[in-house]
Amino acid sequence: MSRSDQLAENMALVREKLRQARRIVVLTGAGISAESGVPTFRGAGGLWREYRATDLATPEAFARNPRLVWEFYNYRREVLASVKPNVAHKALVTLENRTPDFVLLTQNIDGLHQAAGSRAVVELHGNIWWVRCPQCGRRSEDRRVPIPYPPHCDACGAMVRPDVVWFGESLDAHVLQTAYAKLGQCDVMVVIGTSGVVQPAASMGLYAQEHGAFVVEVNLEPTPYSRAFNVSLLGKAGDLVPRLVQDSGEPS
Ligand code: APR
Repeated sequence: MSRSDQLAENMALVREKLRQARRIVVLTGAGISAESGVPTFRGAGGLWREYRATDLATPEAFARNPRLVWEFYNYRREVLASVKPNVAHKALVTLENRTPDFVLLTQNIDGLHQAAGSRAVVELHGNIWWVRCPQCGRRSEDRRVPIPYPPHCDACGAMVRPDVVWFGESLDAHVLQTAYAKLGQCDVMVVIGTSGVVQPAASMGLYAQEHGAFVVEVNLEPTPYSRAFNVSLLGKAGDLVPRLVQDSGEPS
């Protein structure tokens, strides 16, 4: 069977699974925002190819040089302030609206799912438009581009940090609890645009599969989990995701 016939057959199978499913979990990574103009981390031109994550995205880096870290996050705010959700983000809103029990777990801190209209969003790694005070724990939304340096906590005056999860830090316990509760009972899971190298998100697909879910991957290229998942669809999220969600009457 030709590769395109195989893809068409797999697309039809996944479309049917999604249509029948009552509980769906979607997990997204940087790849879903790539077509909006947001750099990924490990692909060509990826952030971690240009910059050293250990200098910019760890609590130690922030303690060592908070000005450099804020320069980096202000640069990312400038990039994100000019981008819009793409057709893949929007297709997930359609899927959410027609599915009784739907949740979107995202590793992305860009807020593009919410900007597209998604409601049931669980941000595993935080959100770049929020800041957190390391001293009193206060969290607040701050959409200034750039944030003037040094940014201080309105409550206690300490310097705030981006409200994102850095390397070496744990995810929020409540966020994890919500995620695993959904992963443990979903019918179908779709894993979109993630390289599958950062835990715990990387192994969430296997967890859902072990609990009975039919797991589908959408990615430009194979990942370490492609063989383990039920279906691996190779292609652009902006091309494949809308086609997975469209109604049966439309051309495939
Ligand atoms: N459509 C589908 N997949 C794509 C597209 C696209 N248009 N463009 C890129 N991809 C895929 C790449 O093939 C790659 O597998 O998206 C993936 C992006 O991988 P990474 O850059 O590693 O990003 P991600 O998996 O989200 O990183 C996980 O690592 O740096 C930390 O906290 C950060 O949340 C991030 C985490």
